Amino acid sequence: MLRNHGGDVVTNIDVPFVVSFTHRLRQTADVGGDDFAVLTDLLETDADQPAKVLLWVDSHLDAATDETDHFAARLNSKMVDCDRVDLAAPMHRIPGGEACKNSDAVLRQLLQLINEHDMDRRSYIVVAGGGAVLDVAGYAAAIAHRGIRLIRLPSTTLAQADSGVGVKNAVNQFGKKNWIGTFAVPWAVINDAAILQSLPDRDFRSGLTEAIKVALLKDPELFRFIRDHADAIQRRDEAICTEVIARSCRLHLDHITLGGDPFESLEARPLDFGHWSAHRLEPMTGYELRHGEAVGIGVALDTLYSARKFGLPHGTAIEVCHTIASIGAPIWCSAIDDVDAVLKGLEEFRQHLGGRLTVTMLRDIGVSINVHEIDVDVMKSCIEELRELSAIAH
Ligand SMILES: NC(=O)c1ccc[n+]([C@@H]2O[C@H](COP(=O)([O-])OP(=O)(O)OC[C@H]3O[C@@H](n4cnc5c(N)ncnc54)[C@H](O)[C@@H]3O)[C@@H](O)[C@H]2O)c1
Ligand SMILES: [Zn+2]
Repeated sequence: MLRNHGGDVVTNIDVPFVVSFTHRLRQTADVGGDDFAVLTDLLETDADQPAKVLLWVDSHLDAATDETDHFAARLNSKMVDCDRVDLAAPMHRIPGGEACKNSDAVLRQLLQLINEHDMDRRSYIVVAGGGAVLDVAGYAAAIAHRGIRLIRLPSTTLAQADSGVGVKNAVNQFGKKNWIGTFAVPWAVINDAAILQSLPDRDFRSGLTEAIKVALLKDPELFRFIRDHADAIQRRDEAICTEVIARSCRLHLDHITLGGDPFESLEARPLDFGHWSAHRLEPMTGYELRHGEAVGIGVALDTLYSARKFGLPHGTAIEVCHTIASIGAPIWCSAIDDVDAVLKGLEEFRQHLGGRLTVTMLRDIGVSINVHEIDVDVMKSCIEELRELSAIAH
């Protein structure tokens, strides 16, 4: 160790520092129509120059709507016509769904587009899509030039209620979810109601399991609201669903901005309640199971476990499982039959964070705890209980 004349160590310097970010969240009824200005107001430009923008859309968002109410086409033509926007290239379609995170080809293509069109750190990528498309696009935007401004338009209930406001992006590698990725704060997020219209029922309903998850962790009143309006949610009642999404999104946003650990350096990852098994089930089903479906199953399972081990009333746990089923999400899938394979998710979860295994469980709704050990026999018996419950629920 080097010391100066006074004998002090001179080589070890620990300087904590703070970087300040602004998280911009907007809620719109139709950003491809009357609310388009909400998007352009987010574009900061130099000396009245138009903002340089690339528009990327989820291929299924683009294909799912008919010509008369074609969200992606409407948004694209608004951008083409807007003198505050310099659209650097025609709208680009990213193959929607988990497959886009499984392939290097999509990521490379996005990086190539950024390069070909000379996008720089003051340019914008506007991406409309499900969580998977947002993840791969966000990763490309985060690593190109060490960060290009990213405006996310989440187009699934899951992405609006949860990942859209997240500060993570990732692609899958080695058969593992989100193995490559970065933390990056998006420039802005716009949760739009019209963009969800073309979303198939299966994705619409299962995406709201993340809202149930965050309600169980942080907001008992929101859980009761979802429980009491489960039928309306299943019917896609717009007012109810918009409220659930907005409240869930706000809870996630507050957790990130006020929770003290946005980049997850601590052991615990409380928003990942129910995710140790969810993240395992997705690759086990070849990603046939949607993330939201896997989360619903994982939340149901860890809620039953919380009842066995941590004092959550058993009746409440049953109510949670029923609520998940009542909004139209599954609480079982056949892959769980391979119980030992599912339980490997615990070790993968530990490895992803490093250090001790830390899993969030519930003492009650709104009261979570971190535990460092899972009693495998009890968990196996919860899996059996869930199997029986699912037989009654469906
Ligand atoms: N970065 C994070 O913090 C974070 C958090 C949670 C989840 N995620 C990731 O998000 C992904 C799941 O996201 P998801 O649930 O949105 O699923 P998804 O992105 O796979 O979308 C589901 C399906 O709906 C299609 N789609 C999307 N919007 C549509 C629309 N409006 N109309 C018609 N079809 C549409 C997609 O193409 C896809 O086929 C997973 O990869 C998960 O790991 C990331
Ligand atoms: Zn999730």
